[in-house]
Amino acid sequence: MSKPGAPNAPDTPDGPDAPNGREISARIDEAVAELERGALVAFPTETVYGLGADATNPEALQALYATKGRPNDHPVIVHIAESAQLDDLAINVPQWAYQLTAQFWPGPLTLVVQRRPGAVCDEVTGGRETVGVRVPDHPIARQLLERFGRAVAAPSANRFGKVSPTTAQHVITDFEDEVALVLDGGPSEVGVESTIVDATAATPVILRLGGITAEQIAEATGLAVSLATDGEVAAPGTLASHYSPQCRVETVTSGTLRERAERLTNAGQNVAVLALDDDLVDVPNACIVLSSPNSPQEYAQTLYSNLREADRLGADVLLAVPPTAEGIGAAVADRLRRAATV
Ligand code: TXA
Ligand code: MG
Repeated sequence: MSKPGAPNAPDTPDGPDAPNGREISARIDEAVAELERGALVAFPTETVYGLGADATNPEALQALYATKGRPNDHPVIVHIAESAQLDDLAINVPQWAYQLTAQFWPGPLTLVVQRRPGAVCDEVTGGRETVGVRVPDHPIARQLLERFGRAVAAPSANRFGKVSPTTAQHVITDFEDEVALVLDGGPSEVGVESTIVDATAATPVILRLGGITAEQIAEATGLAVSLATDGEVAAPGTLASHYSPQCRVETVTSGTLRERAERLTNAGQNVAVLALDDDLVDVPNACIVLSSPNSPQEYAQTLYSNLREADRLGADVLLAVPPTAEGIGAAVADRLRRAATV
């Protein structure tokens, strides 16, 4: 429900009646105008912030790749306002994929589907015959997409290979004035990227672990779900050595954390520590203990902020105890493993 006199005011993170609803609405209009003139706009989603460009404007997409420093053959995810638009972009979508959209859109799920010829620019798909599509679940993202009316191509709004942004400030730190406008929607609620599911095969294949779990996908479709997150580069950009802060990341168990921390601090290294509250053990006083999450959900929410914080505090090494690889914990463990791969 919006306030009288503020038609279409988006439901902000502070609630629909927050005093800044009208202001945010005006910013969204500005963002739409920027997208229309081919500029780049950063916007919040429930997973991470995206760096958006009009998916039908080749010059805007070239600027997007150049700004992000991303290789041209890496496809980007296309964002739409509602599920009904999927068929404008895709053909031969299997029935089980619609079951997923019905259940999880808007939400942290991307479907890789056969692209409808001419619907988006070749730049979006890295020359592939498929396109990755999702409906994000954030009021500001949805308003932006609704008012713009067309598909918005948006990778995570970080420099290629670096840590994804989960606040507007992260985006501003990375890009300063290279982006026309950054819409601030508060900290991202999920904190890790969407789950990517290949929906061009007979059964779901997960290309990237994320906000929706393999168990949820199996349950929603009644099908066996396979994982192809490693090895062959099914989703380019899910390469190892991604999501990396400046400092070295090492994954340890709560059982080996203390000994490793001692060894490194004795060797004169600045050590930061990240672990679930339950997995924390006494570490040398010289260690920087980053905010300890209380649950796998909170671990995901704060993961990228914590990686950035380790750099800000000048850590040489981050010792991280990954959560159990179940539910959202699987995505967190996956990102830490990649961050730890040099
Ligand atoms: O949560 C998310 O998905 C965020 C927000 C902004 O929506 N976006 C995001 O985009 O993580 P990006 O570009 O950082 O990662 C997109 C991944 C890349 O690994 C890319 O290779 C893969 O999606 N991808 C996109 N289209 C694809 C396609 N047609 N086939 C295979 N992989 C694809
Ligand atoms: Mg990314």
